[in-house]
Amino acid sequence: MADTITITDNRTGRSYELEVTDDTIQSLALRGIKVQDGDFGMMAYDPGFTNTAACRSSITYLDGERGILQYRGYPIEDLAEQSSHLESAYLLVNGRLPGRDELEEWSGEIMSHCMLHENAKNLMAGFRADAHPMGVLVSTIAAQSTFYPDAKRVNDPANRMKQICRIIGKMPTIAAYSLRHRMGWPYIYPNSSLSYTGNFLHMLMKKPEQPYEPNKVYEKALDLIFLLHADHEQNCSTTAMRTIGSSLADPYSATSGACAALYGPLHGGANEKVLGQLQRVGTTAGVPALIERVKKGEEKLMGFGHRVYRNYDPRARIMKKMAEEVFAETKATPLMDLARELEQIALEDDYFVERKLYPNVDFYSGIILHAMNFPSDEFTVLFAIARSVGWLAQWNEMMLDPKLARPRQIYEGGRDCKYEPIDER
Ligand code: ACO
Repeated sequence: MADTITITDNRTGRSYELEVTDDTIQSLALRGIKVQDGDFGMMAYDPGFTNTAACRSSITYLDGERGILQYRGYPIEDLAEQSSHLESAYLLVNGRLPGRDELEEWSGEIMSHCMLHENAKNLMAGFRADAHPMGVLVSTIAAQSTFYPDAKRVNDPANRMKQICRIIGKMPTIAAYSLRHRMGWPYIYPNSSLSYTGNFLHMLMKKPEQPYEPNKVYEKALDLIFLLHADHEQNCSTTAMRTIGSSLADPYSATSGACAALYGPLHGGANEKVLGQLQRVGTTAGVPALIERVKKGEEKLMGFGHRVYRNYDPRARIMKKMAEEVFAETKATPLMDLARELEQIALEDDYFVERKLYPNVDFYSGIILHAMNFPSDEFTVLFAIARSVGWLAQWNEMMLDPKLARPRQIYEGGRDCKYEPIDER
């Protein structure tokens, strides 16, 4: 059987044989399909990239129909059970699990980059007291490129690895400072003798006048949340990272762009919206009215639905289990009962069943983080700390064979218009 597909153009009666590799045709092969010799040729139209592979990747495998997620071939469930965020980060970036010495060296390297330049602190001090931490994060990451001009050498693999460790190391510090800035609390310098997640909690929670010991349940839960969010193949923010990186921009600028993409409520901003929606509903008695509004199209049920999962998001399943452990420590919040009720109704309702709308990772992460006393506008920042690993792994992979991202368009505007002087319009 030939690995080709034959397309007959009914406009001309001509047939074309296109190669098929991995169930995919090359969009560029369509260009040979023309009505007249001078035509531009056929294109593929795919707004939102719903069915277009923009790269080859061996980082994350995702099967949305079956609800499967694997990092470098390792099931997310096994990693959640046995790995840590930094070990999974090594796996995502380097393509294999580290040995004990390699993990120690990797963790040490990342923790050695936690400090921020003092001028970066001054920059952050310039934001308004009520600045959204994501806005602060987007700007401060971008500004890092001015502190590390060596990052421009993006074609040097060793230099890329150095910047990767730097960014993974600095993300928690910028995130913690952005929150403390808003609280009016003094910044706490990193403590590299703690774990990656323990150090983040330390920078976030420590009161200067008191000793601080990270809560072990919180540390474990947050580390798992980081691990579960570390990569998700070609999502909106990763596509932004690859697109910006494809112009050979430095990784700080590209990471800042990826953070900006993550900020939106249809992507990483959803967990903040989940909480807002649940708080508005208030009690389980308000759930049926919310479901009705959603079914009438008046609002979306935040934390439900996903572009690629048409099944239960495997991360949401792990998160739900972890929520019980966190609530044993924090004492259950009424929001958890509300979330359970909402999930139950939604999973049985025809509207959601027909559209294959299941809880996504944001549904439970918002509730868990709320129970751990994180302010809701910090949720997306936590997501960004985690996802920086995936962004950088994907950027590094893309840089092995960079190609400037430059989509086409179907032009619908006017042509050859005559310019009218302003007084004659
Ligand atoms: N609530 C109610 N209806 C929904 C929802 C939802 N959360 N999500 C999708 N639908 C409906 C749509 O209205 C549409 O209905 P229709 O066929 O009657 O018009 C149908 O389901 C298909 O939805 P699409 O919008 O085509 O699906 P798409 O893949 O474009 O959207 C998205 C995915 C943006 C995530 C969407 O499900 C959504 O807005 N969810 C809420 C926000 C959210 O939780 N985002 C987090 C995603 S996970 C992440 O980024 C980490």
